Amino acid sequence: MLTVNESFPGPTIRVRKATQAIVNVYNYGRYDVTIHWHGVKQPRNPWYDGPEYITQCGIKQGHNFTYVVLFTVEEGTLWWHAHSDWTRATVHGPIVVLPALGTTYPFPSPYEEHTIVLGSWYKGDVMTIISDAMYTGGRPNTSVAHTINGQPGDLYPCSNDTTYRLKVKPGKTYMLRIVIAVMNVEIFFGIANHNLTVVGQDGAYLKPVTTDYISTASGQTFDVLVTANQEPSLYYMIASPLFDTHGTPFDNSTSTAIFEYEGDYSPPSTPVFQFLPGCNDTEAAVKFVKRLRSLASKEYPIYVPKNITQTMLITTTMNHMPCPNKSCEARGDRLASSLNNFTYVTGSIDILQAYTRNLSDVYTTDFPDAPPVMYNFTGDRGNLSEYTTPGTRVKMLNYGEQVEIVFQGTTIVSSETHPMHLHGFSFFVVGMGKWNFDYASDPLSYNLVDPPKVNTIIVPALGWVAIRFVADNPGTWLMHCHLARHLIWGMSTVLIVKNGPSNDTSIRPRPSYMPSCSSS
Ligand code: C2O
Ligand code: CU
Repeated sequence: MLTVNESFPGPTIRVRKATQAIVNVYNYGRYDVTIHWHGVKQPRNPWYDGPEYITQCGIKQGHNFTYVVLFTVEEGTLWWHAHSDWTRATVHGPIVVLPALGTTYPFPSPYEEHTIVLGSWYKGDVMTIISDAMYTGGRPNTSVAHTINGQPGDLYPCSNDTTYRLKVKPGKTYMLRIVIAVMNVEIFFGIANHNLTVVGQDGAYLKPVTTDYISTASGQTFDVLVTANQEPSLYYMIASPLFDTHGTPFDNSTSTAIFEYEGDYSPPSTPVFQFLPGCNDTEAAVKFVKRLRSLASKEYPIYVPKNITQTMLITTTMNHMPCPNKSCEARGDRLASSLNNFTYVTGSIDILQAYTRNLSDVYTTDFPDAPPVMYNFTGDRGNLSEYTTPGTRVKMLNYGEQVEIVFQGTTIVSSETHPMHLHGFSFFVVGMGKWNFDYASDPLSYNLVDPPKVNTIIVPALGWVAIRFVADNPGTWLMHCHLARHLIWGMSTVLIVKNGPSNDTSIRPRPSYMPSCSSS
């Protein structure tokens, strides 16, 4: 497996708020690789955002590239990961953004802080797994385990001795910085018999929410407090999947770590276990997500856009496409996915370069603001085609535009929850609901007072989610489903935010040492 500094998960980057990190990446691997700083806004600095063929070409074997990562408003936990094909399965790690010097958390300081990275374990080389799947047009092999800090835990026959253990002192409060690095599922997480208090998400604070499980999606990060206030014993920390598509194989296994009290007691033969919501319990996921609110206090104010100048309705859909090379198993079709019925195809040079150098023939600017046909998205789709149109279509936005996007789930091929992620921004989640979004009634129930500000949000299966942000970060920013298989099947587009009127509102100069896009 490809790893960073020989570790899985990779090392933690620890910074203070509003500083910068310089990261020099040497590629000793067999594949081109790039690194993305997930949730870091990188103002005016798309050059160092990372997604391959969006803001740069890959760092080639034997080459290196130095990223400048600009932290500004983020505070809490984020993460970094590779952003080329499926390399992120094994190349990822936490980013801890501490409060600026002289400031502190908006909650009592925890006794200790620990990072918890939830990952996916595949049998075999993930790059081979995905290239095989792209060749046959079928589904990539599923992972064989979810991991907690690199280990699947006691319920698997392989790792009992190395199961992750968090040793705790009775009465103390611990902060868990949880990174959801899994590839292709959403994940429920909990600690048997213990309440969790969620205080932050995606590098921003929340009003504290006390819960016995959290529901998380690939790409998200959570700051959670837990107090060791139970009978001293061993308790399982548990991660189990949510996968709400019917008839598709997935990794339905449960991973564990151990929350272990220190002190004198006779430990049980197995740690205390607790069941989390079931693997198709979309309701449980939505119920948790709907409880999350920004602090929106005097010290932590928020500015929710209220004068929307650009609205988009974007369908998230699973599709089929004709197979390019007759290699496909199923009916000569391959699986695909789309936004507004367009399947994103990556070019051979990056969008940022094409945009800043005015190169034609790399992309078109006709990504639509609404689905090409309106239908009953979450109901019977009639005889609507499962096919989608390939293309490299982007959406242009003027600097300063106030944007609302409603993502709408659909039933074509299969309905499924999609974690949508936007590079370059955090956005407010102003609404979420079941069935088809209704322009007349649904906006009436928006939360414009204290909506959570995040970079990744689920579009619930058979439902919709509405987000808002101000397009004040010029650059070429990828927007995509964070499930690895949906991303590679084309569930993405690019938002190009044009420069504003001044130097301070324009893309920074291009670094002279961007990796070359030619294959030699
Ligand atoms: Cu976490 Cu486009 O990425
Ligand atoms: Cu998806």
